[in-house]
Amino acid sequence: MMKPLSLITLALAISGTVSAVDFQNDILPLVKERCWKCHSNEEEAKGGLAFDDIESLRKSQIGEHGLIRPGDPGKSDFVERLKLKPDEEEFMPKNGDALRNRELALIEQWISEGALIDAANPSAEELARVDDVKIISAKAGGEVYFQWTNREGKAIEARYAGREGETVKIVMKNGRGFTVPLKSLNEESVALAKRLSE
Ligand code: HEC
Repeated sequence: MMKPLSLITLALAISGTVSAVDFQNDILPLVKERCWKCHSNEEEAKGGLAFDDIESLRKSQIGEHGLIRPGDPGKSDFVERLKLKPDEEEFMPKNGDALRNRELALIEQWISEGALIDAANPSAEELARVDDVKIISAKAGGEVYFQWTNREGKAIEARYAGREGETVKIVMKNGRGFTVPLKSLNEESVALAKRLSE
């Protein structure tokens, strides 16, 4: 059953954050344990890679041509090296044990979801990137949750379930669905609905 928009205001409101695996919370503990002694300014930065230099990670390592390609773990050298056999020249962690499958899966998820540094405080560029990655995945049939914000600034997380004329259908994680008139949404959410329905 689709419910009217007013009920959305009762739903959990979230502000400015993205729900995604991020570097600070999810990946940093892992690299601290497995890579720090060779890849931190605190110790040594082999191959010019320091996981405690967030600025250089953002600028040089994460990007379309970087070691870490947001949205595309399969093309990221970073992941490729971790998946090599331990006796191969470029295997990482050098002279260490291969990462566990669930650690690799977490890194792949991080990159798939846009390789964010801090999901609680994303840059404008990261936000745009996350939307691109999510839109592509939603269009490919994935169950992807977006933030939808109305004109009063109330936001909910819901997946896109179709568009009908000037309304958009969205469904929350608990299964509650809404038919929302585009004119009640803010500019970003209208743009999102349009991109999803293209
Ligand atoms: C014992 C030291 C050591 C450890 C531990 C180590 N690395 Fe490395 N890493 C190196 C060295 C030396 C290089 C530079 C030579 C090369 O590229 O193979 C390097 C290079 C790299 C590169 C390529 C950098 C570039 O710009 O091309 C990546 C990616 C990398 N390491 C990832 C990791 C990750 C992820 C971990 C932890 C899971 C890790 N390494 C652990 C020594 C280490």
